[in-house]
Amino acid sequence: MIDLRSDTVTLPPPEMREFIYRAELGDDLYGEDPTVNRLQELSAEITGKEAALLTPSGTMSNIIADMTHCRPGDEVIIGDGHHTMIYEVGAPAAIAGVTFRILPLNSDASYDLDRLEQSIRSADLFEPPTALIWTENTFAGEGGIVMPLEELEKISAVARKHSIPVFMDGARVFNAATYLNVEVSEITKHVDTVAFCLTKGLAAPLGSVLCGPADFILEARRNRQKLGGGMRQAGLIAAAGIYALENMTLRLQEDHDNARALAEGLAEIPGFVVDSSAIQTNFVVVGLDAERPCRDELIEGLKDDGVLVVPWRKGRIRLVTHYGVERGDIDEALGAFSRVMKQYA
Ligand SMILES: Cc1ncc(COP(=O)(O)O)c(C=O)c1O
Repeated sequence: MIDLRSDTVTLPPPEMREFIYRAELGDDLYGEDPTVNRLQELSAEITGKEAALLTPSGTMSNIIADMTHCRPGDEVIIGDGHHTMIYEVGAPAAIAGVTFRILPLNSDASYDLDRLEQSIRSADLFEPPTALIWTENTFAGEGGIVMPLEELEKISAVARKHSIPVFMDGARVFNAATYLNVEVSEITKHVDTVAFCLTKGLAAPLGSVLCGPADFILEARRNRQKLGGGMRQAGLIAAAGIYALENMTLRLQEDHDNARALAEGLAEIPGFVVDSSAIQTNFVVVGLDAERPCRDELIEGLKDDGVLVVPWRKGRIRLVTHYGVERGDIDEALGAFSRVMKQYA
């Protein structure tokens, strides 16, 4: 099977498994796991923040960010289609007690600045205080889009003017940095706090790291504990993370090139609608032209031909390249796309 459903399906390479096996361990809730400490120091250094905290998942990092930045009843400004709004089972409201002020995003995943500023609430007796501005980079919802640095800088300036912190769900911030050809810290210097995933393109089996000011991370650590996310010999997870940061971030361009090749190939097959020049990272979101049959049948047909994809918003399908999908697989997948589409011609 060529699995293009998501980069979350990546498996740890043998060298990563070996690195995990050799990890020095201790009880992290006493701060005594040297491997966790090293991962957190490395993550803080990479993002240019004072401190960092390992959590089991991107979802937990996002919830902890809400809990630590906000109080119940506070409002978070969020972009329409941001991951946390749709795929975290309502946890921001259910667990952190925050409400969302949802704004449309521009095609480059940025906010309209006037609208952003107007959406910041006054200190009115009746209104929920605006406590956080949320960003997501890359923006998964519209196909792994990278927000231009100038736009992020402007968002940050609006936030600073109103003394509101900016958080980045940087689950794939290494893909963003690869696309922009900059260090991750060049992106994250514009936000107060950021979480990135060790899984996905970096191929660790689990883990996410939340980074920010030291006092924020201290409180985040308490909130992680509240959620039952404190872990003991978590060096097993952290070792995979260290290996990922030191090795797997270097190969992301390969995934981006494969995504571009996939999109270019699909653009040649009648029935698929894709703008290959819009591909920035490892996501390809593909439309089907109006005359084609049911998308579910197409997805089933692809599965029978050895290619896994997922349905995506607005009647589209989504393909994601990652560690474990090689250039030869792209050619093979294109063959399957072509064969299956012909059945419907
Ligand atoms: C943008 C984004 N943020 C957060 C998450 C959540 O990460 P996890 O699956 O580790 O909880 C995902 C997962 O796909 C994601 O795409």
